[in-house]
Amino acid sequence: MKIRTIDGVDVRGKYVLLRDDFNVQIVDGKITDSFRIEQSMPTINALRDAGARVAIVAHLGRPKGMRNMEYSLAPVAEYMHVPLIDDCLDKGFMANMHDGDVVLLENVRFYAGEEENDSAFAEKLAAGFDLFVNDAFAVSHRAHASTVGVTKFLPSYAGKLLAAEIANLDAVMERPVRPLVAIVAGSKISTKIGVLRALARIADKLIIGGALGTTFNYATGAHVGNSLYEPDQKDTALEILNYAKENKCDVLIPLDKGVATEFSRDAARVDKTFDEINENDIILDAGALTTARDIDVIKSAATVIWNGTVGMAEWSPVWSVGSFAIARAIAEQTRAGKLVSIVGGGDTVAALESCGVKDDISYVSTGGGAFLEYIEGRELPGIAVLAE
Ligand code: 3PG
Repeated sequence: MKIRTIDGVDVRGKYVLLRDDFNVQIVDGKITDSFRIEQSMPTINALRDAGARVAIVAHLGRPKGMRNMEYSLAPVAEYMHVPLIDDCLDKGFMANMHDGDVVLLENVRFYAGEEENDSAFAEKLAAGFDLFVNDAFAVSHRAHASTVGVTKFLPSYAGKLLAAEIANLDAVMERPVRPLVAIVAGSKISTKIGVLRALARIADKLIIGGALGTTFNYATGAHVGNSLYEPDQKDTALEILNYAKENKCDVLIPLDKGVATEFSRDAARVDKTFDEINENDIILDAGALTTARDIDVIKSAATVIWNGTVGMAEWSPVWSVGSFAIARAIAEQTRAGKLVSIVGGGDTVAALESCGVKDDISYVSTGGGAFLEYIEGRELPGIAVLAE
């Protein structure tokens, strides 16, 4: 899709309302994952260097339209060394701004009008600004006041991050270098039906893993013990397998699993094939056979798209084996110039980070839900309003 970008627009002395996604993990008041903030910096710095007066509008969590300081963006303002404006509708700070200044507005979701995309709220938010820049790919699947509503009141453009997300995801979805291998894992089929179908349509091979993969194993008659899976999605799983076959996409479901008899990071691990899994077993990771097969498939690919970890990757080192092996194989092939790799989704990016290979990936998306919807081919409302 062709969108209007901020590149080349004269912003000197202009008041710019910039939408960023700073929905980051904060533990005890400290940011534990700054990826989205770092990825937003090129646009912020470009606007600052070009002499714009920038107010960043962002959200944190889901405070449900109420002012709840648990969801304050104060830790983000502190991390960025910029002033926090206590109320996103307060315009008092504007009179004191100079060219190149940047401030962060307090959580826009403290107002119910944000998620309702209320026009009067959007107009108040936009008041006093000269233009709007959306750089928040990760929330562009939401038709909210700060992604869609304000565009009725201000000339609106995409920032560098939003443009980069679109360019990279379009390239891989529309013109993939083949063979294209997609890896979809995570916990629930129900949240990934659209993306599984979209990838079954275009990929040469589709590796399905995680608890989502367990549901496919169950649907095809395997024993899955006391594991997390979705029995009510059996027909969906079979329908996706059929759809993939019609589209000549080779689907690879798990061959074995790492199991334990308790749901705990310290539980003893045994790798079992599905014939060996008994009713007390809980699946917590991909098994060694599955991981070896997945690595071979990755080595045969020219493009890989990956979303979703194949086990409890956060329970390192015992239960992260499968996910980290996939991360390392993708990184190694990409480093060697043999692979174009695209990775998206919070847990998946965290796994890359944990094994220190994030910088080796061709493109890491900041999107979670937005990444899935974009790959699925859905129109993202925050992007649609910027179409040329
Ligand atoms: C995200 O973290 O995926 C985005 O910020 C969107 O958040 P939401 O799902 O609460 O709308």
